[in-house]
Order: sequence, then C-alpha cells, then structure tokens
Amino acid sequence: MNLVAVPGNSLTGAVRLPGDKSISHRAALFAALSSGESRVENILVAGVTRVMLMALSELGIEWELAETTLQVQGAGLRRSTISRVPVQLECGNSGTTMRLLAGAVAALGVPAVLDGSDRLRTRPMNRIVEPLRQMGVEIQASQEGTAPLILEARPTGSKLKSLDYALPVASAQVKSCLLLAALAAEGETRLVEPGPSRDHTERMLRAMGVIVGSSMVSPAGYGNERFETRLVPPKPLALDPMSIVIPGDFSSAAFLVVAALVTPGSHIELRGVGLNPTRTGLLDVLQEMGADITVTDRSESCGEPLGDLQARYSRLTGIEVSGSTVVRMIDEFPVFAVAAAHAQGQTLVSHAEELRYKESDRIHDLCCELRGLGADVEETWDGFKIQGGRKLNGGEVSSHGDHRLAMALAVGGLAAKNPVEIKGAGILSESFPQFVQTLQILGADLQTT
Ligand code: S3P
Repeated sequence: MNLVAVPGNSLTGAVRLPGDKSISHRAALFAALSSGESRVENILVAGVTRVMLMALSELGIEWELAETTLQVQGAGLRRSTISRVPVQLECGNSGTTMRLLAGAVAALGVPAVLDGSDRLRTRPMNRIVEPLRQMGVEIQASQEGTAPLILEARPTGSKLKSLDYALPVASAQVKSCLLLAALAAEGETRLVEPGPSRDHTERMLRAMGVIVGSSMVSPAGYGNERFETRLVPPKPLALDPMSIVIPGDFSSAAFLVVAALVTPGSHIELRGVGLNPTRTGLLDVLQEMGADITVTDRSESCGEPLGDLQARYSRLTGIEVSGSTVVRMIDEFPVFAVAAAHAQGQTLVSHAEELRYKESDRIHDLCCELRGLGADVEETWDGFKIQGGRKLNGGEVSSHGDHRLAMALAVGGLAAKNPVEIKGAGILSESFPQFVQTLQILGADLQTT
C-alpha cells in the first residue's frame, strides 16, 4: 500500500485509540504464564501482537480473541514434562516479541528457536544473550549476536542463577526479558540501567503478585543517574491471572498530537490515552516547545495512569533533547522530527544512537526522507540537527519498512506545501492499523493507492 497525505484540511474532533502496544504484548504473554484465566480488554490487534499470539499458540497456550477482548488460559510457570523437540517461535518484525519471549522461554526451560524477518535478524540480540548466559541459560545466537536464537531445555525443577547486572543501554525489552527469566531464578535479581526505560513489566508483575522494586540510585544529571530494578521470585512459582483494560497507546497518540500541532486550525481530543511517565517524554518536550496540549480526566487502570489529551495548532520553537528524556520518548523521534521541522529555530537531538537499531535506522533513514521533502536536516552519529520554520515541499518518500517512519511522513504531508506520497505505507498496520481511518475521522485528506 502507498499512502498520499494531502495538505489543506484542519483536524477537529475526538477519538479513542487502540490499546498500548507494549502493554498488549506483556498482557498476552504474562497471562499465558499465569496460573488461571485472564481477561484483557482493549488489546492492540495489529501485526506485532498477532505474532506474539501465534507464538503463544506454538507454546501450547489456549487463547480466544473477540474484537479487542482477549481471554487467555494461563499454563503457569512450571512444566511437568519438557519436550525434546524445540518449539519454533516466529517473531516477525517485532523486537519486543523476540526479546520478551526469550525471557519467558528461559524461565519455562523449554527448548525453542526464535527467528524473525530479515530486519529483525540484523537487530542486536547479544544484549539479552550475554546476561541470560550469566543466569545459566543455554542460548546461542549467530556469530554477529543476532537471531535466530536457540535455547536449550533445562531439567524440570531446576532453577536459574540470580543475576546482578548493569545494562549498557537503557532498554525495556532487555530489562523485561531478564525480569521474566528472573522469575525462575534461585534468589533476587538486580538490574541497573543508565536511563528510565518504560516500566510496564514491573507494574504488571506487581499486579500479578510478584515483589518488584524500582528506584533511582544516584543524583540526577546525565551520566550519573542509575535506575535500579529488583525482583524476588515468587514462592510458590506462580503468577496471579489478570483482568485488565489496556489504555490507548501514547505512541499512536503522538502522531495525531503532532498532526494537530502543525496543521493550522486544528483542535483535537484523544480519550483514554496511557500517560505512564516513562513514556511521555514527547509531551514534556512539545510543551516546552510551546505546544498547546492539555491533559484532563486523569485516572488509572491496573497501575497504569491515563487521561484525555487535547492538542491545538501551535507556534513551536526549536529545542535540545538529550539525556534521560531520550529513552522516555524513544519511539517518538520520527514524528518529533516533523514537529521540529515546523518549529522556529534549531532543534538538536543527541544521546539517541539507539535509534539506529529500531525497525529501520531511525537516524539515517529519517534524515534522508525529511531532506528529500526539503527539510534542513543534518545527521549526527547519535541524533540529528534540524533548522526548522519552513513548510515541507511534498514529494515521494519511502517507509523503509518501518511503521513509525511511514506514519510520521504522512503527518509531515498533512502540513506540507504539496502532497506527500509514502511508498510501502502498509507496514503501519504493524502497530496502528486504524491510523488512516482515525485521521480521516478527524478530517485529514489521506488516500491509499
Ligand atoms: C519496547 C521497548 C522499546 C521500544 C519498543 C517497545 C517494549 O525498545 O522502542 O517499541 O515494549 O519494551 P527498547 O527496549 O529496545 O528500547
């Protein structure tokens, strides 16, 4: 599918968003590991969550999906017999599926092969392989430290070693993988990260009866902060089932918020959006840039904060983004760059090298495509510099097989001088299949070809 974003229309109205991708992954997987039946409402039904559900079926889990309500029959954390034949787990293009499943499979001790798309096969997996080995998991990766990952069986009843480990890069996927494996360890596991990565795993495991502590262990200031997570394995080894309603995805909301901020005459409301502070770095940054965004009706669902967001067309000014803010908005840089291109003055992003290891190289590919649309963008090794304040020209761009790049470029097109055509935009159904329809409801002129 190609997508043409035609400028000219303002965005108005109120919408609700599909469930949060990160929480949906965790809800499906953790429910499968629990001892009982779980019910998950407003789960994200999209490419990345489908591969997670298919993998759960391969692991013998029974689940039923009716629209956006998922019922899961948890099979617990213990296996009385372990098959010798490795289970094949296909993770598609989803790093979250692969890294979280690897941790769950390690906890269960079942033999498995985890593989995925060509792009997923290039993404770094050593960051989970090395600490899992320290826990006693027998796991192999390719010579380059990438998928496929092969995990050997562990004798029934045996435990993994507890881990005391400093993650070189702040990553919720790595942290969650290790916390899942740590459920089957002999004692407490302690993880230390250089930044505040999203904490959905900790919140959900707590709600399922596990003792998980989180704290910041040193004074603030980039380079000094350390974020510590401790997990005590439950005794007996079991997780309580859950009944939850997943908040709307802040990362999907981000596209609509920026679309409203850069499109003259816009005023939109997004209801029931997840507002976990480890996810909302973009909100803080946009408000500092002068964005007219308000939050009302704050509440909580299963330990996750949520609220309604109102965003209006705004005059933005450039900003510097670095340090621990980066991880709190790690998925939002493609659409943030569109806001920065509209902002008066210079925007500088640094400490964001991690963006090179996402679904595309989100520094290089993003800069190339925005430059192609006439933006004044300079790529740096750990970020980018944008001299903003003029409209994008319009033209033809590529999604590079990256859902967030496709959606960000479409948002750019809504406020450009001329239409923007995004080639390979069908990939957006990986995380936000209703993107086009939702923007059309708000009044945007988006056409698929
Ligand atoms: C995610 C963590 C982030 C994020 C990804 C989802 C998660 O990845 O980019 O979209 O659900 O844990 P990293 O942990 O690799 O930063």
